[in-house]
Amino acid sequence: MRTQLPSVEEQFRATTTRSRELYEQALQVMPGGVTRTSIYSEPYPIYAARGEGCRVWDVDGTRRLDLVVNYTALVAGHAHPAVVEAIREQAARGTSFAAPNPPEVALARELVERIASIEKIRFTNSGTEATMMALRLARAHTGRTKFAKVEGGYHGSHDLVQDPEVAGTLPDVGEFAVVIPYNDAAGATAILDRHGAELAAVIVEPILGSGGMIPADPEYLRALRAACDRHGSLLIFDEVISFRVARGGAQELYGIRPDLTTLGKVIGGGLPVAAFGGRADVMELLDPRRPGFLPQAGTLNGHPLGMAAGVATLALLTPEVYAELDRRGERTREGLRALFAEHEIPAQVTGVSSLMQIHFTPEPVRSSRDVQRTDARRRKEFVLGLCNHGVLLNSRGMAALSTPVGEAEIDEFLEAVDTVLTEARARA
Ligand SMILES: Cc1ncc(COP(=O)(O)O)c(C=O)c1O
Repeated sequence: MRTQLPSVEEQFRATTTRSRELYEQALQVMPGGVTRTSIYSEPYPIYAARGEGCRVWDVDGTRRLDLVVNYTALVAGHAHPAVVEAIREQAARGTSFAAPNPPEVALARELVERIASIEKIRFTNSGTEATMMALRLARAHTGRTKFAKVEGGYHGSHDLVQDPEVAGTLPDVGEFAVVIPYNDAAGATAILDRHGAELAAVIVEPILGSGGMIPADPEYLRALRAACDRHGSLLIFDEVISFRVARGGAQELYGIRPDLTTLGKVIGGGLPVAAFGGRADVMELLDPRRPGFLPQAGTLNGHPLGMAAGVATLALLTPEVYAELDRRGERTREGLRALFAEHEIPAQVTGVSSLMQIHFTPEPVRSSRDVQRTDARRRKEFVLGLCNHGVLLNSRGMAALSTPVGEAEIDEFLEAVDTVLTEARARA
């Protein structure tokens, strides 16, 4: 029997007229109406008016449960009073200086104390700059030019780590990058053993983030560590996303010590802060007191507002909070799996702690190749359907819990999923 339900897109358009108006204005002055490719979504993005805790209100006044939290960056949710206060206090003292500032030292000390492998650290404004600097530093330290990266890995938007197919990328940039498979220790080792002597570094996300929220097998990371040791390459863990899974980042969970680590997102409490750090003997190359040192520029590096927000955010992340995020993440993943089974929808839910992603495929998901098999049409309907029912996921089906997401909000999420799956069946 045909149903009277409007399509997911009709429902969306009917409730987001003000967003659409803003989008049309934006189209006049910005290519595609956006300033960040990843937040464009069809038919148009919703415009955020304000956020509080795990809620975002759009410009039409609709309140939703935000499980994107700016692509995992806001671990304490929106406008946490302690973070807002820290920013306010610092802003009243000045917003930036051509001088180091006290919160910068505090955030550096906090991160060095938390992350065993980081002996020295430097700040940047974005994860992109952090991986750019970490790779440059690895080249300076080893005197080598190439590096290895993982298939499906994401390290930002500078040329070296970009997909060489992207328009405008320097033509020979691909020659510097050796690509290794994810979660295939033997396959990756064979490639690293072939190219090892030329490699300055191997860069890897210990939990593949943008590529699908897929945890690495511990033996895979151990194999990369061993290959780097054999060949004198530096092992770089890109923990821009994965740092939020444990006090000392994913490297603490895995018990593996990289030479360098890149950080971002949660360490700035929602402001533009990222960092790179690691072995003192490598980081010392940046010391301006050394002859031939490697310079690091950046008008807004160590920005006091971001530093203050970062210190305030990390202070909220106690061992008890991490344990709660682990438990709630597991409960959410289990709840999702049960619903997909009940609705007989082939789906996988990957992730660690507060990070997760839904993949519409019957096969287990262990690499970004497996992610490619996801049913993209079903995913798009699902994500837009959830938006219509008050829950925000990113367009790839990624979700990240923030500390204000409690039992009631998990129930709310699972109920919305149940409704969306029921409606999808009614439309089919
Ligand atoms: C693992 C990883 N590295 C680097 C980046 C780049 O960070 P940014 O967007 O701050 O440049 C990202 C962004 O999502 C990321 O997930």
